[in-house]
Amino acid sequence: MASGRQLFSSLCIILLHFVCLTNSLPSFSRTLCIDDTGNFTTNSAYKTNLETLLSSLSSNRTTFPYGFYNASIGQTPDAVNAIAYCRGDVEEDECRQCFIDSSHNLTQSCPNKKEAIQWSDSCMLRYSSRSILQKVETGPRDVYCNTDNYTDIGRFYDLLRNLLDKARGEAAAGGPFRKFGTGNATDPGFTRMYVLVQCTPDLTEAQCNGCLDTAATFIRTYCYARQGSVIFTPSCNLRHELYAFYNEEASVDVQPKTLKPPTERGRRGSQRRNARPSKWQEIAVKRLSKDSHQGELEFTNEVVLVAKLQHRNLVRLLGFSNEPKGF
Ligand SMILES: *[C@@H]1O[C@H](CO)[C@@H](O)[C@H](O)[C@H]1NC(C)=O
Ligand SMILES: *[C@@H]1O[C@H](CO)[C@@H](O)[C@H](O)[C@H]1NC(C)=O
Ligand SMILES: *[C@@H]1O[C@H](CO)[C@@H](O)[C@H](O)[C@H]1NC(C)=O
Ligand SMILES: *[C@@H]1O[C@H](CO)[C@@H](O)[C@H](O)[C@H]1NC(C)=O
Ligand SMILES: *[C@@H]1O[C@H](CO)[C@@H](O)[C@H](O)[C@H]1NC(C)=O
Ligand SMILES: *[C@@H]1O[C@H](CO)[C@@H](O)[C@H](O)[C@H]1NC(C)=O
Repeated sequence: MASGRQLFSSLCIILLHFVCLTNSLPSFSRTLCIDDTGNFTTNSAYKTNLETLLSSLSSNRTTFPYGFYNASIGQTPDAVNAIAYCRGDVEEDECRQCFIDSSHNLTQSCPNKKEAIQWSDSCMLRYSSRSILQKVETGPRDVYCNTDNYTDIGRFYDLLRNLLDKARGEAAAGGPFRKFGTGNATDPGFTRMYVLVQCTPDLTEAQCNGCLDTAATFIRTYCYARQGSVIFTPSCNLRHELYAFYNEEASVDVQPKTLKPPTERGRRGSQRRNARPSKWQEIAVKRLSKDSHQGELEFTNEVVLVAKLQHRNLVRLLGFSNEPKGF
């Protein structure tokens, strides 16, 4: 019979490492080490290839005029494939710094993982021994929900759907270097709403549309009735808010601007819109591993067990999904 403490710590392991962190203010950054793809060893060709790739990414001789970097180094089975891109309104110097910080975070946190992802407000970096180019992947994912809710839900989602459709179309049609779209709209008496969507630019137009369609369904799944949400997936991301949180003159030619942490960005928006959310809630998503032999019954039992748990260091279960490709 497991003691409470044993049960607690084994659940921490079951529920992925980050579930056991208590909520903190938004930094919108997540380092994810992927176990499924395996480990590399200290003297392996994989390690050398990965180091070569990350140092070329961080080199100041590499330029990112579109905030996009992709590369494959080495031969199978030691080949490393990487995709990195910056949010469409991030200027090149900030973009480069974000790639450098992301490489650093991944090297520190996932020292022997063949596959890993770093998401942050300004950029994403992912690498794998698998070929990841031109593949749509919507899991694993990282989701943040604004804790303020919205009461007129029907109207809210109508407006949001229209905005997302337009921004998604703009992003998907964006060409091979940049797939980025933003938008804002209101209807009479309604607060103005802002959206931002982006795909990794190696995706085709149809793939980008598909990825953002799927990501849009996560808004309701994870952040129902919330005023804002941030959804990161390996192939695309989206965010919506009731305040302007991105650079309005978003373009590759934007004036250089200084690095702003997310809170600063939010504050800038709120002075203009007076609508800054008071609190954020990060949610954790547990996904059944492809190689897991856990069946539906075991999964349901685990969900029921987790739903009953309450501990100040454990987040509460908000919901679950058993769609075949949902997680
Ligand atoms: C990979 O390394 C982790 C430690 O970082 C270890 O727990 C795990 O068992 C290893 N997996 C394999 C397949 O070797
Ligand atoms: C590029 O990096 C080198 C050293 O790695 C440094 O000496 C040089 O000043 C850098 N150039 C710029 C433009 O930052
Ligand atoms: C690197 O990790 C730190 C600590 O988790 C985080 O604050 C920072 O935003 C991360 N940077 C990037 C670019 O992901
Ligand atoms: C959220 O909505 C509920 C009703 O659905 C309401 O009682 C509550 O006050 C709302 N909270 C906020 C912060 O708006
Ligand atoms: C990078 O992606 C583009 C597609 O956007 C592709 O044409 C190119 O071959 C890729 N480069 C590498 C090194 O994989
Ligand atoms: C809001 O939308 C209008 C018209 O579509 C556009 O001119 C303006 O730049 C947008 N503002 C932001 C912050 O996106």
